[in-house]
Amino acid sequence: MTSKKLGVLVSGGGTNLQSIIDQIHFGSCNADISCVISNVKDVYALKRAETAKIPNFVIDHKQYELRLDFEQALLKQLEQNNVDILILAGFMRVLSESFTANFIGKSLNIHPSLLPALPGLHTHQRALNAQMEKHGCSVHFVSGELDGGPIILQASVPILSTDDAHSLAARVLEKEHIIYPRCIQWLCSEKIYLKNNRVYFQDTPLEKPLQLEQL
Ligand code: GRF
Repeated sequence: MTSKKLGVLVSGGGTNLQSIIDQIHFGSCNADISCVISNVKDVYALKRAETAKIPNFVIDHKQYELRLDFEQALLKQLEQNNVDILILAGFMRVLSESFTANFIGKSLNIHPSLLPALPGLHTHQRALNAQMEKHGCSVHFVSGELDGGPIILQASVPILSTDDAHSLAARVLEKEHIIYPRCIQWLCSEKIYLKNNRVYFQDTPLEKPLQLEQL
């Protein structure tokens, strides 16, 4: 099976991008990253791409008056790089339904919470404020709804009395770096797929998200 071409959208440090690069390098993820696109210049994710000799581009959303034009520029670059699967990895722009419709079943996002709890931003502080006992991360298919697509796999971490947002984020990030490459490998090898807006795992529809701790 020829390896799938990934397009990775980033906006910041790129630690999830790095974990994907590493797992591809180690051979546990049968894919190629054909491009990395950031909406922000000079972010470390671009340096990670450069080091890994991956074509990388900045498409600055502030250069476009209309979201539609920004998204058209994204789509053009992804098409030029023959992207099969779109990976959002710390990408901080909301994408419209018309854009995501191009990648239904072929795009993933990782979110730092146990969805459907805590969609949106600042999830670690919000988990602390809500005195939740556990927190974690979720990989889901991208839909037109922000952080709302069908969830594939989650990983949990305990919230410790000594935690602040920084320490909690670091513990969640470690789990992100495990579950994201795994989900990408599953999608590339068709171990998971989306049908009728449901996640199928080994040809069986998931009743609820898979949990890393139970695999
Ligand atoms: C991560 O917590 C990720 O879940 C969120 O953005 C944060 C930074 O990701 N989407 P990265 O280090 O840029 O991959």
